[in-house]
Amino acid sequence: MNGPTHLVAAVEHALRAPSVHNTQPWRWRITDDAVQLHADWNRHLVATDPQRRDLILSCGAALHHLLVALAAHGVSARVDRLPDAEDSGHLATVTVGPGTDPADAALFPAIPRRRTDRRRMSDRPLPAEHVRELTESARRAGAVLVPVSGESMRDRLAAALSEGAHRQEYEPGYVAELQLWTRRYTAARDGVPATSIAPAPVGAVRATPLRRFPRGQLRQPRLRPGRGTVEDAAEILVVATPGDDVVDQLRAGEATSAVLLTATRLGLATTPLSQGVEIDETRRAIQQKVLHVPEHPQLLIRVGWPASTADEIPATPRRDLHSVLLPQ
Ligand SMILES: Cc1cc2nc3c(=O)[nH]c(=O)nc-3n(C[C@H](O)[C@H](O)[C@H](O)COP(=O)(O)O)c2cc1C
Repeated sequence: MNGPTHLVAAVEHALRAPSVHNTQPWRWRITDDAVQLHADWNRHLVATDPQRRDLILSCGAALHHLLVALAAHGVSARVDRLPDAEDSGHLATVTVGPGTDPADAALFPAIPRRRTDRRRMSDRPLPAEHVRELTESARRAGAVLVPVSGESMRDRLAAALSEGAHRQEYEPGYVAELQLWTRRYTAARDGVPATSIAPAPVGAVRATPLRRFPRGQLRQPRLRPGRGTVEDAAEILVVATPGDDVVDQLRAGEATSAVLLTATRLGLATTPLSQGVEIDETRRAIQQKVLHVPEHPQLLIRVGWPASTADEIPATPRRDLHSVLLPQ
């Protein structure tokens, strides 16, 4: 493999980043002292993600995973976002130097452990200090994290999400993309495997904020004896940014990775949820009628304690490094 070994190793860790439908819409170029991140427009979900927001967010998450892996190798990084005015697909160049960021390095062990968990979570509430820590991790990465708190805000969000989901399911191409990326051939190294998708929990009363996927094989955790309700105490936190250009979206992706890895380090389960931001009207409704904030919502993150009876979720596949490397 070309390039210094610590840069090659860091990119390999970056490939573990989450991405919309596990499309992994990125390409990388490794030089002697820098790593370039490029968007792979061929992997854009045109019907699901018309504004390419999910694609840029996914690349931002991979960029943050790269920075965490470099920090763990004792390397500091300077990031130039959109460094080439003539190439909008060249999203970032990361140049390495001496020194390291201990806060980023501390997140490194969470990279292989993180999973998207779409199952019912525990009814144990999320401690306020954990929410503060997640908020701080998003802030360090350049975004704000807005909690959806209180019954009325939660109800308004649920209404906006279910209206948006309904609208999107009638969008030409949306269901086809969902089928394509959840029904990959057996040896596929991308897409969402059935072993990562759980059937809806039986007996749920509240509307689910989750995207509806085709039938999956992941078991819902058993309810403990004496527990009559399937409602959990998972909370929704919204990653938002002051502006809404590509750099804002890239930073939102970095902040998403920071929140997911911090949550994993704290033992929490997470689900990134993008359906509400893929439709313009829904995204605006979430900003203006649910959150009442000036910042632009970029992604919702569901966070909670995993249920005590939950099985391990298998890791989703990734394409090999050589499939995503650009020539030097
Ligand atoms: C920008 C973005 C949007 C996503 N949207 C959703 C979503 O709406 N619903 C969902 O269940 N998962 C969503 N995911 C999670 C991906 O499906 C998941 O990261 C991918 O399948 C890889 O699995 P892993 O996270 O377990 O490694 C999203 C992830 C990203 C980065």
